[in-house]
Amino acid sequence: MSTQISVPEQGGRKKVTVLTLRQKKERGQPITMLTAYDYPTAILLERAGIDAILVGDSLGMVVLGYENTLPVTMDEMIHHCKAVARGARTPLLIGDMPFLSYQVSVSEAVRNAGRFLQEGGMDAVKLEGGRERLEAIRAIVQAGIPVMGHLGLTPQSVHQLGGFRPQGRTARAAQRLLEDARLLEEAGCFAIVLESVPARLATLISQRLSIPTIGIGAGPGCDGQVLVTHDLLGLFERFTPRFVKRYAQLHAEIERAFREYIQDVEARRFPAAEHTVEMSEEEWAELQRLLGESILSE
Ligand code: KIV
Repeated sequence: MSTQISVPEQGGRKKVTVLTLRQKKERGQPITMLTAYDYPTAILLERAGIDAILVGDSLGMVVLGYENTLPVTMDEMIHHCKAVARGARTPLLIGDMPFLSYQVSVSEAVRNAGRFLQEGGMDAVKLEGGRERLEAIRAIVQAGIPVMGHLGLTPQSVHQLGGFRPQGRTARAAQRLLEDARLLEEAGCFAIVLESVPARLATLISQRLSIPTIGIGAGPGCDGQVLVTHDLLGLFERFTPRFVKRYAQLHAEIERAFREYIQDVEARRFPAAEHTVEMSEEEWAELQRLLGESILSE
């Protein structure tokens, strides 16, 4: 009897797992990842054929309107993970562990990571940091939960880093980053996000590791790429990092649609006949009979 568990296929595509990502690296095939925070975006990413969806704590900035990612809570993350999990089954689903959900103690880290799988419907978690996170990473992995690392510009440390600025630009800082990447691999991470680091350093790290690297502002030498979907779609106007490529300008398009709607309602152009439900003449006559009065029809 075979002990192999088959992964359900969705519309002809096999479920993407951490092994799929590893195989893509081995074959030299780029890995695609984007963020999602809701059901409709998850459906669209699934249809478009994305490899992995990150429910990022960037949620705090691009959806919830916080100044940075620090105020995001576990409950907010789980709420949005559930919506994404209802919309997408095939991509690997990764939940981003928010600030203070894994730094306080190892047991809290494991419990919170578990919530992403048990309640949020995720397949894996991501957390930020290097050597200082090894104990938590090992414990989460030992609990059977795949962990994605995140090095370079780690937004939860924005105050320590002195702002959202590129990392690993000096030889010493680059050496430390490379060491951290190796330590994360040894601790059991299945992949590592490299954010805002010099392209040649990211290429070197990608060559030295057997697990995939997923770059954001880290050049083309990474094994995969990720962007914040709201940046890619032109939906987040507050600021756009240099490394973002905009594939749509939805902010302007949505604002145009809202203005047109307001004008239509004010000018009584909406709703028109095709947007309106009507009663039959017989039912209308019956209503007048029931009310015992004649109603003026316009
Ligand atoms: O929160 C997020 O969206 C992220 C990506 C930028 C990698 O961590």
